[in-house]
Amino acid sequence: MTEQKPLVEIKDLNHWFGDGDQRKQVLRSINLTVQPGEITILLCPSGSGKTTLLTMVGGLRSAQNGSLRIFNEELRQTSKTNLTRLRRKVGFIFQAHNLMPYLNSQQNVRLGLEVVPEWLEQGRAAMNYRCNEVLGQVGLGERIDYFPSKLSGGQKQRVAIARALAASPQLLLADEPTAALDKDSGRDLVDLFRTLARDNKTAIVMVTHDNKILDIADRIVKLEQGSLVE
Ligand SMILES: Nc1ncnc2c1ncn2[C@@H]1O[C@H](COP(=O)(O)OP(=O)(O)O)[C@@H](O)[C@H]1O
Ligand SMILES: [Mg+2]
Repeated sequence: MTEQKPLVEIKDLNHWFGDGDQRKQVLRSINLTVQPGEITILLCPSGSGKTTLLTMVGGLRSAQNGSLRIFNEELRQTSKTNLTRLRRKVGFIFQAHNLMPYLNSQQNVRLGLEVVPEWLEQGRAAMNYRCNEVLGQVGLGERIDYFPSKLSGGQKQRVAIARALAASPQLLLADEPTAALDKDSGRDLVDLFRTLARDNKTAIVMVTHDNKILDIADRIVKLEQGSLVE
């Protein structure tokens, strides 16, 4: 059997915020490897550096030292162009949904496709078809033409999830994705995550405090005082 290449490989990663007296270490010698199809849960109290770590893995915040590889490419010292290219392969579900208020569900989800050249080439009709498909997967098939102001908090969060999933990212990073969802839609979401991991080999790194969904993880790691503990 050939060894599979990890989608995420973090070695000895440290991170500090602030300067001088204010300088504070948030991440300490983080080591983490994530394989395709693997679901990793980061479990820890708030303020422990989870969001910082996720945004670094997604290429949204630059690493100061150590090594951070995604898709087998080092993120540190890579060019802006390459970083943009790599970011497009990552689906990111933020704590806040960040939907555009003047776009309906389908149009908001389409934003997730319009950054991908291959999808743009396919044209509007193909993109809309894909948007409706993925809105259906998150249980919003009946809400494709609704604007955010007409959706509940949980429904808005599901639109944001659909947007993150639209381009079928191989790596999905989710920052407390079930926090705004009721129990049943939270469960539906993690079931969808499990299907994506199993069928599409999507690697999922998820931050959560939600004890009800820990059972879907292949691995649970804790951040304690900036260090990871399995
Ligand atoms: N941009 C920033 N500048 C300074 N300190 C920050 C910044 N972002 C986060 N922090 C601090 O870093 C620590 C970890 O933050 P964060 O990664 O958001 O934690 P979590 O997501 O686990 O709640 C917190 O103490 C927070 O105050
Ligand atoms: Mg956070």
